[in-house]
Amino acid sequence: MGELEQLLVAHIAATGPIGFDEYQAHALYAPGLGFYQRGGGAGRRRDFLTSPEIGPLFGAVVARALDSWWDELGQPPRLHVVDAGAGPGGLTRTIQAARPRSAAALAFTLVEVGEVQWATHPDGVTSRPDLPGARELDGPVVVLANELLDNLPVALAERTAAGWAEVVVDVVDGRLAEAHRPLEPVQEGWCAARAPDAAVGARIPAQADAAVWLRNALDLAAGGRLVVIDYARTTAEMAAVRPDEWLRTYTAHGRGGAPYDSPGRSDITCDVAIDQLALIEPPLATSTQAEFLRAHGIDELVAEGRAIWDDRGLGGGLAAIAGRSRITEAEALLDPTGPGAFTVLEWAPPARSS
Ligand SMILES: C[S@@+](CC[C@H](N)C(=O)[O-])C[C@H]1O[C@@H](n2cnc3c(N)ncnc32)[C@H](O)[C@@H]1O
Repeated sequence: MGELEQLLVAHIAATGPIGFDEYQAHALYAPGLGFYQRGGGAGRRRDFLTSPEIGPLFGAVVARALDSWWDELGQPPRLHVVDAGAGPGGLTRTIQAARPRSAAALAFTLVEVGEVQWATHPDGVTSRPDLPGARELDGPVVVLANELLDNLPVALAERTAAGWAEVVVDVVDGRLAEAHRPLEPVQEGWCAARAPDAAVGARIPAQADAAVWLRNALDLAAGGRLVVIDYARTTAEMAAVRPDEWLRTYTAHGRGGAPYDSPGRSDITCDVAIDQLALIEPPLATSTQAEFLRAHGIDELVAEGRAIWDDRGLGGGLAAIAGRSRITEAEALLDPTGPGAFTVLEWAPPARSS
């Protein structure tokens, strides 16, 4: 049994069962022992590939999107870009490498709770563990969150014959094991409203941490833009399928076991419940990642890369190879059975009055 598992078993044996959200928070973020605190995460040499870690193309398209938002805002002299849940910093690095027209105005803040990942953040950015306060940054703010919300802890509820119960983590025979605990009537009502047709045995996530994050990010992005990119579905859709379709574990570029196997050794991630976010504030626009990337010019960038490759071939050196790599990167980013089907949610919260 690993150190974190031993600590959790001892803690639960002494104080009683904990919610899945508390368990997930320990498994991912316990100082020194949680998955993201031990150096796990996105990247070719780590555990899974995110869109910015596939290659520079994703960031190059986001750079064009930033130019369009900078234009819409009247080309302010300073535009803050908050890369929330920045991981190793690949998104910011590739945006900068694309040299957007707005480059001189952009000031980057990388928000990453796993401080071991700050070491690979680009020079000249601010790295911090939490979102800046609403009035901390002067000038308009664009908040980008690529695959952050799926990593925020979720509580779990299960439809029982009697109503809804919370799924908690207990200790049985010295090992972590699931148990149920009753919910307050108001919580049961919330579950029933989110998944009215759930069959007995169906489960749903309750994403309170994501809701709080969204409130804070909307405040921060007042007068600017907030863009969330993630795998997402509705709570009712999640109730209709096996929970391991939307609550998954990953380690070393493969699916991991049950969330209770070796806490701290694998990522635990949950599809984002779009309807729960919309209860806080309905997004201005919802699209797939493929639609978003096309709207911001991925096809043009690929055509440009293809032309350089066709023109110069292998003798064209790095520029030609980068041109060819755009073709394969685009295939991955637009894949309708993979990242191309991710959901992009955009908000343009109004500026604060004072
Ligand atoms: C799946 S990774 C995505 C990394 C990066 N955005 C990318 O696309 O490659 C999610 C990251 O969010 C970080 N994270 C989780 N909760 C956070 C929070 N509340 N604030 C800041 N970062 C957080 C994790 O430590 C992890 O590095």
